[in-house]
Amino acid sequence: MKILVTGGTGYIGSHTVVELINAGHTPVIVDNLSNSNIGVLDGIKSITGESVSFYQVDVTDIQALDKVFSENHDIKGIIHFAASKAVGESVKEPLKYYRNNLVGLMNILECMKKHKVGSLVFSSSCTVYGQPDILPVTENAPIKPALSPYGNTKQICEEIIRDTVASCEGLHAILLRYFNPIGAHPSALIGELPLGVPQNLIPYVTQTAAGIRECLTIFGDDYDTPDGSCIRDYINVTDLAKAHVVSVDRMENGKQESDVEVFNIGTGRGTSVFEIVNMFEKVTGVKLNYKVGHRREGDIEKVWADATIANNTLGWKAEKTMEETLASAWKWQQSLK
Ligand code: UD1
Repeated sequence: MKILVTGGTGYIGSHTVVELINAGHTPVIVDNLSNSNIGVLDGIKSITGESVSFYQVDVTDIQALDKVFSENHDIKGIIHFAASKAVGESVKEPLKYYRNNLVGLMNILECMKKHKVGSLVFSSSCTVYGQPDILPVTENAPIKPALSPYGNTKQICEEIIRDTVASCEGLHAILLRYFNPIGAHPSALIGELPLGVPQNLIPYVTQTAAGIRECLTIFGDDYDTPDGSCIRDYINVTDLAKAHVVSVDRMENGKQESDVEVFNIGTGRGTSVFEIVNMFEKVTGVKLNYKVGHRREGDIEKVWADATIANNTLGWKAEKTMEETLASAWKWQQSLK
């Protein structure tokens, strides 16, 4: 099937493009290259042997987007990644986030209606749960007030999709609520390319190990967790990518139980920041320079997924071990030298 992947040169997008090709699909990438570069296409080609068709288009530009749909009449589904994702930046520049994330999605839905494309996979986030009252968190947990404009856009996007699907015969969607994606393709030909100083834990860890950053700060050791540091559910990016492939297949094969389905995409395991540091040192043999600092504003204390529904209904399961995943992140970092 021909699948349009917006944000297809980005971190999760590029890994998903590879898995789509591995599964026999034909991806078409739309990306404005605002947080990725064209060289990613070479990485995808080296891994898969395929040249992917690419449009440098901003999803907020509906005319340009519409042209992509017109030139690709046989698109069967959309995987929509293109969005801004830095929590801190979203607080400083909320309009950028509302424009990119909401207008981008609305344009995609508009084009899907016009060109009669029925299947949408949307990148949502566990951020919609805030600090859950019950762990592991299931898809039925209440949506908590968002802590940032970024988080708010994910909540609003989910609502926009529900309302549009309800109003439009033939349109259906799968919302994937990701936990914390980490790691890189085992080939180290594609991976995460953070701009400037990384905000996320794993790129900060690998850059510190590589000597690019002097010292990792662990944001707080006084949380109500066994070792005092925050707990997350870290999911391998290739495992996460595969969840998108099974989602498009599920929609196209008419297997959905309702027109909008929601799945938690995580491992079901919680790992603390200290555990990550220790495991990284063990796996790579590199000593990490780190210190304990203050809590980071807006951080959730602990969250991990109940991924039972994704396991049973979607037929998807996280497969990679944390060791393999951390090793892949390190191999990728080293390849950037
Ligand atoms: C955040 C967002 C999430 C978003 C994701 C991707 C929140 C609550 N979550 O996830 O919605 O999808 O980014 O951009 O805003 N840490 C350190 N030192 C560091 C960096 C991180 O100790 O230098 C700790 C954090 O306190 C946290 C863990 O590492 O406990 C993971 O942090 P991070 O990788 O930034 O992801 P989240 O904040 O979980």
